[in-house]
Amino acid sequence: MAPLRAAIAGTGFIGGVHARSARLAGASIAGVAASSPRSAEDAAAVLGAERAFDSAEEMVRDPGVDVVHICTPNHLHLPLAEAALAAGKHVICEKPLALDGAGAQRLVDAASGSGLQAAVPFVYRYYPMVREARERVGSGGAGALRLIHGSYLQDWLLQPEDGNWRVDAQTGGASRAFADIGSHWCDLAEFVSGQRITRVCARMLTAVPERAGAEGRQAFASGGPSGEMRPVTTEDAVVVQFETDAGALGSLVASQVSAGRKNRLWIEFDGADESLAFDHEQPEELWCGRREAATVLQRDPATLSSPAARYAFLPGGHPQGYADCFDAFVADLYAAARGGSAAEGMPAFTDGLRAALITDAVLTSAREGRWVDVVSDLAGAVDAPVVAP
Ligand SMILES: NC(=O)c1ccc[n+]([C@@H]2O[C@H](COP(=O)([O-])OP(=O)(O)OC[C@H]3O[C@@H](n4cnc5c(N)ncnc54)[C@H](O)[C@@H]3O)[C@@H](O)[C@H]2O)c1
Repeated sequence: MAPLRAAIAGTGFIGGVHARSARLAGASIAGVAASSPRSAEDAAAVLGAERAFDSAEEMVRDPGVDVVHICTPNHLHLPLAEAALAAGKHVICEKPLALDGAGAQRLVDAASGSGLQAAVPFVYRYYPMVREARERVGSGGAGALRLIHGSYLQDWLLQPEDGNWRVDAQTGGASRAFADIGSHWCDLAEFVSGQRITRVCARMLTAVPERAGAEGRQAFASGGPSGEMRPVTTEDAVVVQFETDAGALGSLVASQVSAGRKNRLWIEFDGADESLAFDHEQPEELWCGRREAATVLQRDPATLSSPAARYAFLPGGHPQGYADCFDAFVADLYAAARGGSAAEGMPAFTDGLRAALITDAVLTSAREGRWVDVVSDLAGAVDAPVVAP
């Protein structure tokens, strides 16, 4: 069978990760598109793409493309994913799927019944120790969940001179810290617990009220030319309390201004019999606490449950990390696009919609200073108010 032909829209930090994973999944990189034809040429050379397209809009419709990876700034996700699906392409669209729930619902509707694969890279699901936690919760071994809590902390936007398109609501969306990283945490909370976040109460903090413009600067890159100082309208940090449909309580702190924290996603599930904690900066381990003793499980395919061992590609003691999660996710997507079925747990556009609906509720709660219900479904009502009264 001829290799599937991938196209990468957006060639910054994550575009390069997608290209590598697609290649490992057996695809050829048919083309790339970036913010200008010139940067697409440069990226094509670096990523080994057959072609640099002048625009992403042209690329996602190209007959020589089978799978479109959308890795652009957030405001382009909806139009590019819609165009790609309309042109019959499988789509991997970065989070947030759209800037609001109504936009994400449009994409879910467009993908539904199309026969195309449509996925969102909530790749933290692909850590074997996350799958192990999910097995322990799902089997009832931890007992009924009472609390889900944790944080997702970064420091790459600590200073006023740290800028990125994410800061600007026009390109990044009205929520930054929550939509960008809190959404990953909430996806894990729901994925592992099997529960849905139904209500939220949020407070947002904009700690750095003005930031330098940073046109053309890649995510996580510090230094380099900075533009004029501009007012910031998106949050640097957010604190969210929540309830789930099974009666668990939870809390999350998400921040992009926590000095010394690079990408510390930490999440704990406290059941009636056992607590389970996953720390993304120690991803080879799962902490399991019982009243009599706490143990630290190591990632070892020989001892993990089979759903977790499925993603343990190396023997214990040979660390796996973020790139391996991405590779596993993209490999599952390509296997499904080649005619297989979607592997259990693959994050689909419906999961991107969940994240967008929770983000809408968090924004409303922070703005209005009250608990807000998370709308469970906008199907057939994309123009309806996103947040329940
Ligand atoms: N799933 C994850 O774990 C994960 C991690 C990081 C980023 N992301 C998501 O990936 C997306 C990109 O983030 P990033 O960190 O790579 O940002 P980045 O700033 O490093 O890269 C964005 C790229 O988009 C390109 N671009 C800008 N305008 C464009 C246009 N009109 N057409 C084509 N390309 C254009 C830029 O040239 C740049 O190369 C965001 O939506 C972000 O939320 C997801």
